[in-house]
Amino acid sequence: MYGMVNKAVEDMVVRHHGESVWEQIKAQAGVEIDVFMSNENYSDEVTYKLVATASRILRMPAEQILINFGEHWVLHTAQEGYGGLMNAAGKTLPEFMRNLPNFHSRMTMIFPKLQPPHFECTDITEQSLKLHYHSHRQGLAPFVTGLMQGLGKKFNSPVTVRQTAAKAQGANHDIFEVSWTITP
Ligand code: HEM
Repeated sequence: MYGMVNKAVEDMVVRHHGESVWEQIKAQAGVEIDVFMSNENYSDEVTYKLVATASRILRMPAEQILINFGEHWVLHTAQEGYGGLMNAAGKTLPEFMRNLPNFHSRMTMIFPKLQPPHFECTDITEQSLKLHYHSHRQGLAPFVTGLMQGLGKKFNSPVTVRQTAAKAQGANHDIFEVSWTITP
């Protein structure tokens, strides 16, 4: 994955637990990379090792780390580093969700090695939809839950996310029921 992902994990850990805990996580994960370059591509293994080691050191389930990371990604990484892209994709949660399926494909011009997830929205009503998530990667469903929670906060439309099908349990792909309230 592009270095911006590992950098964002670093940013989240440093923000909440400090620099020395991050250095400890990197050392125990056996990751000998001093500085992650946002636009460079790293093996997915690096990200998985960082999350697994953070889970051990922080005594927090990896799923919870991924949920927190999803929120952090939307509210900090994306908003602060790619605010233009985020704002162009929608002014409200429903509008953003309509654009989500095409969101990463637009990015492949800037990041040619991107291997993005694929999203599809079905059963759309004014306050809910089914989100279908396809990826060749394993274990990132909790990240999607956190991303949706982050989007709910960004748009001031608190969301409830319930996973109704899991690839990890043999389903074809992950499906989430997402519903939200619109606050004035
Ligand atoms: C400007 C904002 C965003 C940027 C710059 C961005 C960029 C990226 C990058 C670089 C990766 C790693 C994949 C790779 O390097 O091959 C990634 C993965 C991912 N992104 Fe985004 N993204 C953004 C917003 C979002 C949003 C809003 C969502 C969903 C609500 C999302 C969902 C995901 C997921 C689930 C993955 C994990 C990869 C996988 O499932 O295979 N991203 N994104």
